[in-house]
Amino acid sequence: MSDSPPVPPGFPATFPDAASLEELHAVMVRCTRCDLFMSRAQVVPGSGPSSPRVLLVGEAPGATEDREGVPFVGRSGALLESMLAVAGLSRDAVFIANVVRCRPPKNRNPRTAEMRACAGWLAAQIRILDPPIIVTLGRCALQRFIPEGKITQLQAELQQVTVEGRTLPLYPLLHPSAVLRNPTLRQSYEDQFGKLGGLIGG
Ligand code: URA
Repeated sequence: MSDSPPVPPGFPATFPDAASLEELHAVMVRCTRCDLFMSRAQVVPGSGPSSPRVLLVGEAPGATEDREGVPFVGRSGALLESMLAVAGLSRDAVFIANVVRCRPPKNRNPRTAEMRACAGWLAAQIRILDPPIIVTLGRCALQRFIPEGKITQLQAELQQVTVEGRTLPLYPLLHPSAVLRNPTLRQSYEDQFGKLGGLIGG
């Protein structure tokens, strides 16, 4: 638990134009912009270096992430790390964030209002990180950047998006939990991460 004084609902009203991740995350961990603050154990701001080789964007923290404050540390995280290795990437080289920074109760899908309330955090991180490429994991993350995008059609097809004044390559992939649910997808998932390794020259 933080020793900081409690903050009212709707904090912060505007997203800070922070110069560093530390400065940004110090405000983010106190966020009460949507109702998820009432049920979360803690905010999961994201983790990784300030000059990552890839920005990965998932959906929302699960139970383990809510407990530990770090994204993708549960079963999906273990699969993600082994897939990153296929792309020649270690977890230390990538920044991992989520569309929504607080765990939705019972791991339900994030609601539109929650995604809207949280959107500015990812925008601020993109300004700071200036990532060379974004990899979205699953439908929710894809649609954060390409609202009508269908993951079944766009998976492993390189896209271009304009975000925070930058035109960036975006590589949409399935969410690791989809592969955990359907192990027959694993080989193609691995191939798609292999393609990512080629895209980033790794
Ligand atoms: N699933 C996500 O989308 N994000 C996490 O951080 C963990 C599981």
